[in-house]
Amino acid sequence: MRDDPTAALLAEALATLPARRAGARILVLDATRAIAAACGPADGHILAVQPWKPHFDALVQAGIEARPGLAADDGGFAVALVALGRSRARNLARIAEAVARTAPGGWIVAAGANELGAARYAKLAGATRTMARHRGRAFLLSRDAAPGREILDAWRAGGSARRHDATGHVAAPGAFAWDRIDAGSRLLADALPADIAGEAADLGAGWGFLSARLAARCPGLRRIDLHEADHEALDAARANLAATTAAARVEIEFLWTDVARGRNGRRYDAIVSNLPFHDTHGADPAIGVAFIRAAARALRPRGRCWLVANRHLPYERALGEAFARVARIGEAEGYKVLEVAAPQNVPG
Ligand SMILES: C[S@@+](CC[C@H](N)C(=O)[O-])C[C@H]1O[C@@H](n2cnc3c(N)ncnc32)[C@H](O)[C@@H]1O
Repeated sequence: MRDDPTAALLAEALATLPARRAGARILVLDATRAIAAACGPADGHILAVQPWKPHFDALVQAGIEARPGLAADDGGFAVALVALGRSRARNLARIAEAVARTAPGGWIVAAGANELGAARYAKLAGATRTMARHRGRAFLLSRDAAPGREILDAWRAGGSARRHDATGHVAAPGAFAWDRIDAGSRLLADALPADIAGEAADLGAGWGFLSARLAARCPGLRRIDLHEADHEALDAARANLAATTAAARVEIEFLWTDVARGRNGRRYDAIVSNLPFHDTHGADPAIGVAFIRAAARALRPRGRCWLVANRHLPYERALGEAFARVARIGEAEGYKVLEVAAPQNVPG
């Protein structure tokens, strides 16, 4: 979804509210720099909440007060803006959270592209007004006319982390493969040798499946760093690896990182990654290429790295530039599993 209409829609809807002129406090859930720029009141204050590290970093760089999540006592906002995303449960939970954090007499404004089903949320929330433009829709909801507490509590519960009986893992809607084990990840985990030792990294760790398998399978590992951009997924990973952390056999660190841009200088003996090919806007194989290059920079000269990707994704050239040894060690269910080594000098 390029040309995201959300910022323009939120700004237009916000401009119809008196709070825009009164310089009131505005909360923005799933804020981006574009939204903050379009909606920031000249004489007011914005609190931007953004769990996705690349967007969070851009907000901070622009001097906007940003947090990965809400604090328990954040409340009393005159207006709460919600940028709708792809997960229905996460969207409903955000709308309910926005209502809970708004002062009596306040307003909730939500917007997103038509393909995200913004009209459906407007109907469910009983929107006071809606606006359709720029191939998207915004709706305004008076806090005092919001759905009742029971409905809002159900929406919040629906968006929060829970344990999945079939696998035993914890994750919340919106995270990658939140309610299952991804077939590509399972394939990669099954291909990992038990002799991996030393210090390892899981790039794009999600709710922690690969790291948990590494810790269970490789007794020679001293340390695993989980790098993940989604703060909510990282919280789930913390819960999923709690027992491993408590056992203290392997040191585990959870790093809220933009792998594509982050440079913390750490080096590893082993790296695993189920390469992402989506950012928050949609499919983009450039993210996978950025991960391959980041893996080459972070791997020690004699280290080994295991990757899984959708078979059709064109990573061979990037792999050849980043590693002198590239071997396809598995292929099934539309995925390819690669073992790579001998990292090249990749500028970044
Ligand atoms: C294909 S998923 C794999 C998740 C997990 N390793 C698993 O096997 O279930 C890729 C992960 O990379 C994360 N990701 C995407 N872009 C990222 C970035 N720039 N920096 C860090 N993590 C990112 C996604 O949030 C997602 O959790």
